[in-house]
Amino acid sequence: MTAKRKIRFGVIGCGLMGREFAVASARWPALMDMQASPELVGICDLNEGLFDWYKSNFASIKTCTTNYEDLLSDKDIEVIYCAIPHNLHEKVYTDIIRAGKHLLGEKPFGIDIEANRRIVDVVKAHPDIFVRCSSEFPFFPGGHQIQQYILDDPWGRIIEVHSGFLHSSDLDFDKPINWKRMVEINGEYGCLSDLGMHAMHIPLRARWLPGRVYATLSQVVTERPNGTGGMDACETWDNGTIICDVVHPTEGYSFPMTLKTYRIAPGETDTWYIEVIGTDFSAKFSTKFPKTLQTMHYKNGGLQEWRYRDLGYNSAYKTITGPIFEFGFTDAILQMWAAVIDEFIKRDTDMYFGCITPEETQLQHKILTAALESGKSGKAVAL
Ligand SMILES: NC(=O)c1ccc[n+]([C@@H]2O[C@H](COP(=O)([O-])OP(=O)(O)OC[C@H]3O[C@@H](n4cnc5c(N)ncnc54)[C@H](O)[C@@H]3O)[C@@H](O)[C@H]2O)c1
Repeated sequence: MTAKRKIRFGVIGCGLMGREFAVASARWPALMDMQASPELVGICDLNEGLFDWYKSNFASIKTCTTNYEDLLSDKDIEVIYCAIPHNLHEKVYTDIIRAGKHLLGEKPFGIDIEANRRIVDVVKAHPDIFVRCSSEFPFFPGGHQIQQYILDDPWGRIIEVHSGFLHSSDLDFDKPINWKRMVEINGEYGCLSDLGMHAMHIPLRARWLPGRVYATLSQVVTERPNGTGGMDACETWDNGTIICDVVHPTEGYSFPMTLKTYRIAPGETDTWYIEVIGTDFSAKFSTKFPKTLQTMHYKNGGLQEWRYRDLGYNSAYKTITGPIFEFGFTDAILQMWAAVIDEFIKRDTDMYFGCITPEETQLQHKILTAALESGKSGKAVAL
């Protein structure tokens, strides 16, 4: 048996998502048929209190630092996973690329469209550097199956598409304020950029691109406890619904698509969904019912019957987990990382099921910027 190639990683931003990556790297033996594996060798965060958890669980870590330049100058590190607040994306992502490190960045990939354009300019100036943006939900078996249908194109004429990401934790008015409610750090988009990439990943990859958008934006909670006994203003949008006119990429007709990004959706813990409704075939998947895929085949005069299929653990990348078992969020993270590593080592292969490309982050920003403008003006905006 040949040894797997080790790809040495550094993590900048050791918060919520940094830890998810670290754990995914420790679960690597669950993946079969991978030609390479990640090894976490360096971590960086301003909050040194986070380092103990990493150091006590990952003996491979050699560098813990509060200065990310230390990871960029470390010759051992090939790839950086960077999961930091939005206002830092431009500076840190471009420094990473210019230092010759490959990058998995986080959405929205720049606090606004201008920051994103400057990041993508640096990506284009460094064609040897591999750069992708994280997005894990399409790696649920239901999401993966719908992406496969998109390649097979069984829909007939697409009548409509709905995609969204819904949270409920912000319904708690006592939840303390954090950077996602501050324009300076999160950006003016608010929920649109926090959750928009989740809703857009599959439509972007399918090239279901809006020619025109209309958006409603709402701020439900206007102030939150600031942790020192007072209340601070929440500056960013809580909920956004984007209604898109999409021109079919090969057939030219138009169909409506909704993209919903809700921080306040009562009863929805972390619900990602995609629904494609067509004249011949329709499919729906939601993480609310994580093993169930709904489909409907229709022939003229025939019955209109939804079928419900339990998908089991049928993931894009084969694992040791039996197909009868359940799939969850941490599995989606593991699958996404498998796609990152796979695409990294097979750089010239066209990987439909891979992660979001820098060009797709630009498309995302065009849609979000138009949605923000529409939400403020109350008018539909052409892209
Ligand atoms: N893919 C997903 O499902 C998903 C989920 C949540 C957040 N995110 C994205 O991940 C990114 C981080 O979000 P999070 O929820 O993990 O935030 P977080 O606040 O939990 O973690 C961010 C970390 O960055 C650190 N940090 C801030 N400035 C730094 C600097 N200059 N150098 C080093 N570290 C610094 C903070 O101390 C913090 O620990 C954001 O872009 C967010 O949109 C993605």
